[in-house]
Amino acid sequence: MRVLVTGATGFIGSLLIPELLAQGVQVRALTRNPARYAALPGVEVVQGDVLDRASLTNALREIDVAYYFVHSMSKDTRGTGLSFEERDRLGAQHFVDAAGEQGVQRIVYLGGLGDDHDALSKHLLSRKEVGEVLASGQPKLTTLRAALIIGAGGSSFEMLRYLTDRLPVMIAPKWLETRSQPIAARDCLKYLAGCLFEDRTSGRTFDIGGPDIVTYHQLIGIYAQLRGLKRFIIGVPVLTPRLSSYWINLVTPVSAELARPLVDGLKNEMICHDQAILDLVPIERTPIREAIRLALQEPRPKNIGA
Ligand SMILES: NC(=O)c1ccc[n+]([C@@H]2O[C@H](COP(=O)([O-])OP(=O)(O)OC[C@H]3O[C@@H](n4cnc5c(N)ncnc54)[C@H](OP(=O)(O)O)[C@@H]3O)[C@@H](O)[C@H]2O)c1
Repeated sequence: MRVLVTGATGFIGSLLIPELLAQGVQVRALTRNPARYAALPGVEVVQGDVLDRASLTNALREIDVAYYFVHSMSKDTRGTGLSFEERDRLGAQHFVDAAGEQGVQRIVYLGGLGDDHDALSKHLLSRKEVGEVLASGQPKLTTLRAALIIGAGGSSFEMLRYLTDRLPVMIAPKWLETRSQPIAARDCLKYLAGCLFEDRTSGRTFDIGGPDIVTYHQLIGIYAQLRGLKRFIIGVPVLTPRLSSYWINLVTPVSAELARPLVDGLKNEMICHDQAILDLVPIERTPIREAIRLALQEPRPKNIGA
């Protein structure tokens, strides 16, 4: 099986590639900038940008399954003048069109949890929209919807880590009490790789999450406890996502462009509706404490979304 991994330099793509190689899959990795990408032996690297439709033809040639891990929440490096939602929509449309043309059988997309009735943030709405665009083409789509993924290098996890490490007293708005169902990076990878070998996941959407539902307040508490830190959180009624993102940019390695939509999304509950995925890809789910403990053992990345 020939597989294309987009977002190969990113958090999830870079973790999935070794997992696929270990299972004997032929991997092609897509990045906008191959010169900055140190590929693992055996990985074919292609230059491609989802905003440049022509660059995708070559990238998708003779591919059976393509993983879609692209988002545009970081800087608008091409200077398109489009919002991140518009760029994400356009990129997904280019990708699904090119994949259809090249006879790709399936696309596997990692999107976000969150419910329509909950006035979704721009970020989560955009993730949902990308899924809809990807589903509209010739290839079958498998969508996995996740909340925060716990692992070193994950943008949301790094925000949590740096804020808790550096601030003994944290002023936080009411999203602190929002509930979420985070997932360990290793569980997410098992699901992503498992889908490849389970055809019955084609054409379906699955919620993926760990065994624990926690508020962000509790998450910070568990993290601080595992690190042996005493932390105080003071709740305030209002702290705008714009102000929070500047603050996060100052304290953490996460860029303000990326922090803002992520912070905005914290107001939405992200909880799995069911665990139907376990019938097709059975795994042992990692409890939250163990997920954080594992992430703490991994090396820390320098810049995120810069
Ligand atoms: N991290 C989480 O906690 C989390 C939680 C739930 C869902 N997800 C979803 O998982 C997926 C992957 O997230 P991630 O955390 O791995 O993201 P990430 O680390 O920020 O990586 C994003 C990737 O997108 C690529 N990219 C950006 N613009 C591109 C373009 N125009 N053309 C081609 N590639 C482009 C970048 O590659 P180059 O710069 O090399 O081109 C980069 O590798 C996303 O759909 C995200 O919504 C993540």
